[in-house]
Amino acid sequence: MQEIIKALEERRAGARLGGGQRRIDTQHGKGKLTARERIEVLLDPGSFEEYDMFKTHRTTEFGMGEQIVPGDGVVTGWGTIDGRLVYVFSQDFTVFGGSLSETHAEKICKIMDLAVQNGAPVIGLNDSGGARIQEGVASLGGYAEVFWRNVQASGAVPQISVIMGPCAGGAVYSPAMTDFIYMVRDTSYMFVTGPDVVKTVTNETVTHEELGGASTHTRVSSVADAAFDNDIETLLEVRRLFSYLPLSAREKPPAWPTVDVTDRAEPSLDTIIPPNANTPYDMHEVVRKIADEGEFLELQAEHARNILTGFVRLDGETVGVVANQPMVLAGCLDIDSSKKAARFIRFCDAFDIPILTFVDVPGFLPGTAQEYGGIIKHGAKLLFAYAEATVPKVTVITRKAYGGAYDVMASKHIRADVNYAWPSAEIAVMGAKGASEILYRSELGDPDKIARRTKDYEDRFANPFVAAERGFIDDVIMPHNTRRRVIGALRTLRNKRATTPIKKHDNIPL
Ligand code: HXC
Repeated sequence: MQEIIKALEERRAGARLGGGQRRIDTQHGKGKLTARERIEVLLDPGSFEEYDMFKTHRTTEFGMGEQIVPGDGVVTGWGTIDGRLVYVFSQDFTVFGGSLSETHAEKICKIMDLAVQNGAPVIGLNDSGGARIQEGVASLGGYAEVFWRNVQASGAVPQISVIMGPCAGGAVYSPAMTDFIYMVRDTSYMFVTGPDVVKTVTNETVTHEELGGASTHTRVSSVADAAFDNDIETLLEVRRLFSYLPLSAREKPPAWPTVDVTDRAEPSLDTIIPPNANTPYDMHEVVRKIADEGEFLELQAEHARNILTGFVRLDGETVGVVANQPMVLAGCLDIDSSKKAARFIRFCDAFDIPILTFVDVPGFLPGTAQEYGGIIKHGAKLLFAYAEATVPKVTVITRKAYGGAYDVMASKHIRADVNYAWPSAEIAVMGAKGASEILYRSELGDPDKIARRTKDYEDRFANPFVAAERGFIDDVIMPHNTRRRVIGALRTLRNKRATTPIKKHDNIPL
């Protein structure tokens, strides 16, 4: 028996070496960890249970019959993060460049199936040269099997993709269909066609980094939700993100103990709104000041910065925050911010995470660029996402809530549950000056008259009370009490039940 056990140990040790020490050294030389080292950082110590360590490919073409590496370029299994179950796959670049063969795909599919069956998230660590070139269509079929499972799992269990090396061609579509994508700066990239093809087809000269590096995808394309400096930092941030998420749609999000008291008053919020309605302030401050221990996990922080999206905890429980940011484009809604917030809201709704909305929005961004780009359709995404969401929705209007954007930003009319306004709120069809110039166009030549009209309009409408008189606002609250009031509202909504008409699925304007 001792001999058999020893043989098993030797087999395991061989499999753990992947593509061999030389390739491991090359991987380290690029500043990257190996597939197994990454799993060790990601999961609780000693919690990883590996499956299919001895699985090998079945290809014989191109001399592949002589190149058999146990595990076939991907490490798969389950483990825990903060004691909570998670399924993981980690592509091993030292084995055929982490390329995806039919059997490599089968391993990923196995843990995805288990994750959906057992109600646990899937985290994929991607580092791959794409389809295994020696396998041809068998590899493409493998990819499609993964894609299909990404869609089946969507909304059932959270899926997180971490891009830690190349991710090119059709391979990008698996991460793209998951809930969150994190990237590592300088060592990872994602694109559908690489710089060489781009040069041939469009004659553009572009580097890997410019075309599909972390800064491109976190700032410009919005494909990625966040990027970090190295493998370790990225994986620790994935652990942090995981701590906010439920294991599946069958479960509530986790609640963690907090030392922050529920009724903590925050007097500085009483003076955060500047005296001049056109002076910006940083909405991050509002979010942090009401959150447990001031912690805000912001997603898509570099993209569409006129809206903030991310998670906080209130009374220990996960809450999704959407907030207009007056510091950027005066907090206007535009194409990018509508898409960004809509996708986030749909994630929260799918996974039973309440949504807290802070509103300071002067309207939709005007201009041909927006209209030609389809702001009507993209703005409708945000409206649709809020209106279809049945999770608890609490809204706080801090300052402006003008026009259609008032309706869109989780107003009572699209079924937000509790709507509060600060005394500084201005809820109206538009700003007082614009309104006066339209209503009293004939007086435009007389600035004094228009100023008086503007003042009249301000006195009448630039406040929360007209809306409060109609019950569109449930209460006008003291800014310093926002944390207590929001937590109270969320508590009342814990057992919220909402019904929707029978249908196959809705038809969100894509
Ligand atoms: C088989 C591959 C491979 C692949 C890399 N390797 N990509 N083996 N299939 N797709 C192998 C290399 O032969 C090499 O083996 C090892 O991995 C490391 O590769 P290097 O080129 O030495 O590494 P590096 O210089 O870091 O370059 C990495 C790379 C490059 C940029 C990923 O290897 C590359 O361009 N690969 C091809 C990418 C590609 O065109 N893939 C197909 C895309 S189409 P040795 O033995 O020397 O260590 C696609 C379609 C998906 O993926 C469709 C889904 C629907």
